[in-house]
Amino acid sequence: MRSARATACSNIALVKYWGKRADTDPDLNLPDVGSLSLTLADLATVTTVRPAVDGRDHFELDGVPLDGRPARRIAEHLDRVWAAAGLRGSRPACVVESENHLPTAAGLASSASGFAALTCAAAAAFEADLDDAALSALARRGSGSAARSIFGGFVRLDRGVRPDGSDCVARPVAGPDHWDVRLLVVRTTTGPKKVGSTEGMERCRTTSPYYRAWVETSEADLDAATEAVLDRDIDRLGPIMEHSCFKMHAAMMASRPPLLYWKGTTVDAIHEVWALREAGCPAYLTIDAGPHVKVLVPANRADEAAGRLRTVPGVEAVTIHAPGPAARVEVLP
Ligand code: DP6
Repeated sequence: MRSARATACSNIALVKYWGKRADTDPDLNLPDVGSLSLTLADLATVTTVRPAVDGRDHFELDGVPLDGRPARRIAEHLDRVWAAAGLRGSRPACVVESENHLPTAAGLASSASGFAALTCAAAAAFEADLDDAALSALARRGSGSAARSIFGGFVRLDRGVRPDGSDCVARPVAGPDHWDVRLLVVRTTTGPKKVGSTEGMERCRTTSPYYRAWVETSEADLDAATEAVLDRDIDRLGPIMEHSCFKMHAAMMASRPPLLYWKGTTVDAIHEVWALREAGCPAYLTIDAGPHVKVLVPANRADEAAGRLRTVPGVEAVTIHAPGPAARVEVLP
């Protein structure tokens, strides 16, 4: 093997992924719904994969050695990439060093950019001849949202129906230059540790009476939102985006025990986005499995919207992100 470094940007879903197919191999990590995302500039993970001289795996994130579940997830992922590369013998031990280049203000999870960067760096290190669709399918097995971070701009991940997941593929719908929009990340007060996505999804699927309705109505959102993106129509995309977000959170809240990711400031920020809209600024929001609010606006309204959202009590920071590029990789000497 050789050494390689990959950079992948984070992404935010405009039409959400929440829930995994229960009829397939869990290792494939197949989503129960398709999703549509925007890859974001300036929120990237840079990951280097090198051969380990002492024959033992060693993983670091931002200079801190990893062990336990995070280390197991990385080791399993390296095994998957090795297997996909079709190489014989056991996987060589690797040193994996990852750095998250997220403004400390963002307060975002990084599994999307993290598993996308790891997949690209490992594939290059193992000299695997894989195209973007294959890299994306591998990244998905590390974390569902990572499948989308292989591509830049607006990305659609289809659910597919086949048991082997071969029709669950991500593809770019429109590149980063297609539409001059901005995504604001509104960081609200951070609270106690949330329930992680994987565990939250399973709880929601098995206990929420609204889970089926969530799944059954998401495909229509995906098609309508894709068309609105292609037409660059924020007033058509925005209501679908908010509907997808609130349906997902309604299904979460109806789980047992409930999954409530919002804080008081989250609700105040929601109302501020709606007040902005009443005042004529086309701003639309989405929220992931956490307390922060993400707001889509035309680029020329971003400063105005960010300024208003910074006045909401409890908001710690607002960062502004342009559409970001696809993941990239370089082979190191
Ligand atoms: C709410 O991709 O983190 O952000 O596949 O279990 O790793 P796993 O889940 P993950 O879930 C993301 C959920 C979401 C919505 C989205 O990004 O589509």
